[in-house]
This record gives sequence, C-alpha cells and structure tokens, in this order.
Amino acid sequence: MNAPMPVSKSARAGRFITFEGGEGAGKSTQVRKLVEALSARGLETVATREPGGSPNAEELRKALLAGLVAPLGPAAEAMIFSAARIDHLDILIKPALARGAFVVCDRFADSTRAYQGALGSLSDEFIDGLERVTVGDNMPDLTFMLDVPAEEGLARAGKRRGDEAVDRFEAENIDFHRKLREAFRDIAERNPQRCVIIDATRPPDDVAADIWREVETRLLGQEASA
Ligand SMILES: Nc1ncnc2c1ncn2[C@@H]1O[C@H](COP(=O)(O)OP(=O)(O)OP(=O)(O)O)[C@@H](O)[C@H]1O
Ligand SMILES: [Mg+2]
Repeated sequence: MNAPMPVSKSARAGRFITFEGGEGAGKSTQVRKLVEALSARGLETVATREPGGSPNAEELRKALLAGLVAPLGPAAEAMIFSAARIDHLDILIKPALARGAFVVCDRFADSTRAYQGALGSLSDEFIDGLERVTVGDNMPDLTFMLDVPAEEGLARAGKRRGDEAVDRFEAENIDFHRKLREAFRDIAERNPQRCVIIDATRPPDDVAADIWREVETRLLGQEASA
C-alpha cells in the first residue's frame, strides 16, 4: 500500500542543476548563493553534493576522499563513485525532482567523466556505459562549469583548508589539475545544450550574477516573462 511511487522522467516536475569544476573553483560557494536566490523566490530547493548526499553515499565519500579506493585503479574508483551516485539519486534526487523541487548539486557525473575518465584514461565506452546505467534519464537540466586556472583554484582550496591534510585529489600535481580543467571544458563543448562555462576568476557576486541570468533564461523563462 505504501510502496514508493516509481520515479520516471515523466514524473520529473522539478529542475536539476549541477556545478562542476576543479578544486577551489568556487562550486560550494555558488551552490549556496544559487540556493539562497531560488529559495528567496519561494521555490523549494534542495542543496546536495557528491560524492555523498545520502547516508550510504556519505560513507563511500569518506573512503573515496581518503584515497582508500585509489589503489584499485580508476575503473574501480569510477564504479564506487557510481555506486554512491545510485544511492544518492534513489534516496534524495529523484524523489525531490518528482515533487517539483529544484535540486542543486555540488559535483555530479561530469566529475567522474573528468577525474576517472579523462585523467584516468578510461574509454568513452566505459564512462558512457557507467553513466547510462547509473544516471540514465536523470542527467542535469543545466550544468555550470566553473572555470579557473589550476593554480588559482588550488591556491583558493589551500587557503580554505588551513592546516587540514589535503584530500586524495588535491594531492595530485599541477599538471593533473591543468588537464582536469581541459577535461571539464571538453565536456562542456560536447554538451552545449546542457553546460555553460562560467569565468569563475571574478568576485563571487559577479559569478553568481552570471549564473542567475542563465537560470532565469533557461529554467525560469516562463515565470520571468509572466
Ligand atoms: N570567485 C571567487 N573569488 C575568490 N575566492 C573565491 C571565489 N569563490 C570562492 N572563493 C574562495 O575560494 C575557496 C574555495 O571556494 P569553494 O569552497 O566554494 O570552492 P570549491 O570549488 O567548492 O572547492 P573544492 O573543490 O575544494 O570543494 C573558499 O575559501 C572561497 O571563499
Ligand atoms: Mg566544495
């Protein structure tokens, strides 16, 4: 009697927005600002992040960011990120979209494609297949690629971290982070209808203004002109 409603694409009344980019690009900052702006319009908004976003996925996050999965290689790492993503989608994202909420997520499937796919030299076939069985029809409506030079992002992330130890990905060398930036730009260029590259070197409020303009035009179009 109380079985959960199956959630399919047709049941998706909400909107799904993701933020991608390298370390320290400003993703978490901009997620917070966008959630504030959407909430101020009276829209139900759910802020979440990956890896994580559900209790089981948060447990997997700890292992992933501690580097416990890295020795198994990029294919295994991509699969554990994807396992966490399946739970996050089932427990949090799909139900929120079904009831009409805006879901704003700090990193999502493009991070797997960039970090494990491009940087880990996994084939497109592998990543495409993984994305298909993990995410399927639940790809984001809109993805912001926050673009900053690798040096600047790492410097910001280092300043924020203070004395805490670097995580598994921050510990990679500068060349890794340069390639990562290219990988995100490449994904955006291949998916122009979904992705917008944002110059994230500017002050946070200027970045947020660009993002809000895109959200209004692409997702709130009818309301904005009403
Ligand atoms: N546009 C900006 N200009 C200058 N500093 C910024 C900007 N946006 C964020 N910052 C600062 O840079 C640091 C990193 O920002 P934030 O945590 O939002 O980045 P992130 O992309 O989420 O990083 P990570 O990948 O490490 O989670 C923070 O100290 C934040 O205050
Ligand atoms: Mg962050």
